[in-house]
Amino acid sequence: MARNIVITSGKGGVGKTTVAACLSAQLARKGQRVILCDADFGLNNIDVVTGIEHLVTYDVIDVIEGRCRAKQALVKHPDFSNLYILTSSHSAPERYVSPQSLKVVLDGLAPQFDFVIIDCPAGIDDGFHRAVACADEAIVVATPHVSSLRDADKVITLLKSYRLRSLSVVVNKLRGDLLLSGESLSPSEIEKLLKLPVLGLVPEEYAIYGGEFTDLHPAFRMLAGNLMTGKNKLFDVTKKYSGVLGNLRRLLKRRL
Ligand SMILES: Nc1ncnc2c1ncn2[C@@H]1O[C@H](COP(=O)(O)OP(=O)(O)O)[C@@H](O)[C@H]1O
Ligand SMILES: [Mg+2]
Repeated sequence: MARNIVITSGKGGVGKTTVAACLSAQLARKGQRVILCDADFGLNNIDVVTGIEHLVTYDVIDVIEGRCRAKQALVKHPDFSNLYILTSSHSAPERYVSPQSLKVVLDGLAPQFDFVIIDCPAGIDDGFHRAVACADEAIVVATPHVSSLRDADKVITLLKSYRLRSLSVVVNKLRGDLLLSGESLSPSEIEKLLKLPVLGLVPEEYAIYGGEFTDLHPAFRMLAGNLMTGKNKLFDVTKKYSGVLGNLRRLLKRRL
């Protein structure tokens, strides 16, 4: 039976979709059978991020409205044989989708998979509730900035009112150079502020997918490993900035 995990944040633009997509692909690469579900019905973009938009025939609304079976709406990723994507509303973007109807679809698929990763929309209204109601675990994505952490804190308070088995944080867009110079909050400070364990660290990098979705950053390998094993090995975002070359990188970054 799959673990249903919602990737949420409150604030938009912090990297929910990026983390959901790269984490799912990395879990699939580790041999796990994964559904990546786009529960963002307003600004849905999982298909674009994963590069499968040309392969979509049916979406979750087609399933809910009986035009196809749930399995028919799953798009098998051409580069990750264990990754299946369930896209949201191409057919009817304005249609209301209840939390129960999405849950029925995902619960029907869960027995044949190891993970269902749910990409949550920004905000804390209906879309948030619908995505969280389908999950039994949550990962809150936050960046080390005050506005993001404030929203994350509000979302965590809300998430505590759901019966979730586990709740953790992924710190995204962390800058190793600023961490070394003391200008960025550290993961342990964020852990103390949010009172939740940090399950993963992802650096801010110009091309976080390495330019191609298949070229996954090693930070997602560690995150996927932590999720599977219960350990918390964190990616060292400062390594790139140590030594002679690293110092040079720091200097150059300061000038940008
Ligand atoms: N670690 C990162 N480093 C650099 N850019 C990132 C990183 N994570 C996400 N981004 C970029 O930030 C933007 C917002 O990310 P996205 O995943 O769409 O956020 P959300 O789903 O929370 O709105 C995108 O352009 C994405 O490529
Ligand atoms: Mg998104």
